[in-house]
Amino acid sequence: MSPAIHIEQVYKSFGPLQALKGINLTIEQGEFFALLGPNGAGKSTLINLLAGLLRPTSGRLSVMGHDVVTEYRQARQLLGVVPQELVFDPFFNVREMLRFQAGYFGLGRENDAWIDEVIESLGLADKAHTNMRRLSGGMKRRALIAQALAHRPPVLVLDEPTAGVDVELRQMLWAFIKRLNREGHTIILTTHYLEEAETLCSRVAMLKQGEIVALDSTENLLNRVPGKNLRLRLAPSHLPSTLHPMLRANEGDIWTLALSEAAQIEFVLAELRAADVRIEDMQLIEADLEDVFMEIVRA
Ligand SMILES: Nc1ncnc2c1ncn2[C@@H]1O[C@H](COP(=O)(O)OP(=O)(O)O)[C@@H](O)[C@H]1O
Ligand SMILES: [Mg+2]
Repeated sequence: MSPAIHIEQVYKSFGPLQALKGINLTIEQGEFFALLGPNGAGKSTLINLLAGLLRPTSGRLSVMGHDVVTEYRQARQLLGVVPQELVFDPFFNVREMLRFQAGYFGLGRENDAWIDEVIESLGLADKAHTNMRRLSGGMKRRALIAQALAHRPPVLVLDEPTAGVDVELRQMLWAFIKRLNREGHTIILTTHYLEEAETLCSRVAMLKQGEIVALDSTENLLNRVPGKNLRLRLAPSHLPSTLHPMLRANEGDIWTLALSEAAQIEFVLAELRAADVRIEDMQLIEADLEDVFMEIVRA
């Protein structure tokens, strides 16, 4: 069985800028895979290379064993891509657009039942006859996901599909994508919401400045960050400077500190007391993917 995605020594430059610097990555069929990284890391570039929208400067990429350059049609047929940008043809309504997309891949009427199912599953039934340009942002996003699925590709790549999307759609979308994965589709996802990646994806690659800096199962990555997080609500909302080296995050009056060992709690309490800062709420939590990401990518 060929892997869903195989990427070998891929480099991509834009003029003097090296966006990808020797990427090697194999994703097996049936995986739910996350591609994570800060803005500008090269995630979309890698996806555009897979989709054949860009050519690699050097190296090779294949989809289910088909080279994306030399066997473009076959590779493209096996891949559904939800682009990061909301690009679409403004002259079609939703159903026409999906039919057109499927038709491009040689599918006709026999595919209509699937198109109906996609429309239904993504909550687009009311909008099936609405022109694409008249859809709201959230509905456009749904339509683009439907478009990627129209020809029933076994491999689905979603580039930030839930950026700026409301909670309801996110849940609907994930329920549907999870079902596709259970049915055997390979899913590759880039997202800013690391919680999503943590709960959905079994394996993660972290990209930084065009290089893979971590590639492991979600479980192993989570185990990489030892210790726990101590989440405190403080009044006044002030963290004594002696505790700053432990600071992991701060939002309003919530301060999250990294503990490498439980004994450090004593130290934290003493420092807060000495500074006359009251603890209004306190929670000890396991490190999450966000912490791993910070540790590896921001390092
Ligand atoms: N068409 C392009 N022309 C020039 N530079 C580009 C182009 N596309 C992307 N880049 C640059 O390549 C780097 C990676 O971008 P991108 O792949 O979009 O990152 P990400 O999706 O991880 O945020 C960035 O520095 C970006 O500015
Ligand atoms: Mg991007």
